[in-house]
Amino acid sequence: MKIALYKESRAGETRVALTPDAVKTLVGDGWQVVVQRGAGVLAHFPDAAYKAAGASISPAPTGDVNLRVNPPTLAEVKRLPVGSLHLSFLSPLLAPTIVRALNARKITILSFDLLPRISRAQYMDALSSQATVSGYRAALAGAEYFDRFFPLLTTAAGTIRPAKVLVMGVGVAGLQAIATAKRLGAKVRAYDVRTAAKEEAESAGATFVKLDLSADAAGGYARELTAAERKEQQKALLNEVANSDIVITTAAVPGRKAPILLTKSMVEAMGEGSLVIDMAADGGGNCELTKAGAVIDHKGVRIVGLSNPPAQMGAHASFMYANNVVKLLALFGAKGQLNPDWSDEVVVGVTVARGGKVNHEPTAQALKVAYVPITSEVKENA
Ligand code: NAI
Repeated sequence: MKIALYKESRAGETRVALTPDAVKTLVGDGWQVVVQRGAGVLAHFPDAAYKAAGASISPAPTGDVNLRVNPPTLAEVKRLPVGSLHLSFLSPLLAPTIVRALNARKITILSFDLLPRISRAQYMDALSSQATVSGYRAALAGAEYFDRFFPLLTTAAGTIRPAKVLVMGVGVAGLQAIATAKRLGAKVRAYDVRTAAKEEAESAGATFVKLDLSADAAGGYARELTAAERKEQQKALLNEVANSDIVITTAAVPGRKAPILLTKSMVEAMGEGSLVIDMAADGGGNCELTKAGAVIDHKGVRIVGLSNPPAQMGAHASFMYANNVVKLLALFGAKGQLNPDWSDEVVVGVTVARGGKVNHEPTAQALKVAYVPITSEVKENA
């Protein structure tokens, strides 16, 4: 069977879903691979490298298995073969039109966002691998925009105190932001609403800011705070924020708009020359003043709305994503043939729809179509 690798059409994207090394692995396993011309150039993987790995190059490929990083556009969906398989980040609840169009073509839709967060699936967890890149980039953005040093420096020209960094949201990205800021020499504090985050933040080198408020939800995620809780949180965090040179925000709630952690008045409490690095900018932002892809100056405090941070590191972000893809595809087939095990919770969990039926309940509700769980279908067929 044939795997098609596409050039990403999202503006500013540099990533590609397979590296030449990943192609080599898949070709070695018996798959044919066709790569859209120029698919990897922005991540420094030229067509010649894919060719050398055993792929063919085409201006308009199609495959039984279709690989992307970002959701396809409607025009791209129309070019996917009916009944084929598509894999990318999709956030199906935020992209109902695309899901509907894919489903109308009876495409098996896999979305990395839905991959179960269990130990066995860590090797294929693209959400985590890309969050690692984002957290690293967020800390570097802090260092880049800050016009002071991060580390403590004792020099003949004077002593410089270390920068005070506060990381809000200690998921995968937040932990990487803590570790990176720490390596650069900053004094790092961290805050999260999940109870387990304290130990995780401390193990990465931060001092944890503990409030009375906690918001643990199923699966190790945070739940959305109530309006009253949000107010209480903002009040309690005011001094912590005011006492920071750089606030890095990474807080997300799956499937929802990013929560507001920093209000305008909190930003105004920060010192002249301070920074907010908002990693949640594409999801609406954790700061009231954030604009995705822009740097706003608000009364001497700059708010950097990081947009698609993994695209700033296309080579390694693609390397990690491609490894995730190869591991996940191994659950869907081997020796060049699709043969998914529909009793595997990872296979079922990552699948939004197949054969025109929606298998992910929240997506079915959003699209107002019947929810057809895969397990019951398997039993029915049996
Ligand atoms: P995420 O990207 O969904 O959110 C980032 C962080 O923001 C989370 O730590 C969350 O608690 C925090 N947050 C949300 N609302 C907040 C608020 N109002 N105030 C402060 N902080 C807030 O998180 P990510 O990186 O996807 O991780 C979520 C969970 O999944 C974590 O418990 C993580 O350890 C777990 N995980 C498990 C994996 C596995 O076992 N395979 C792999 C990756 C993550």
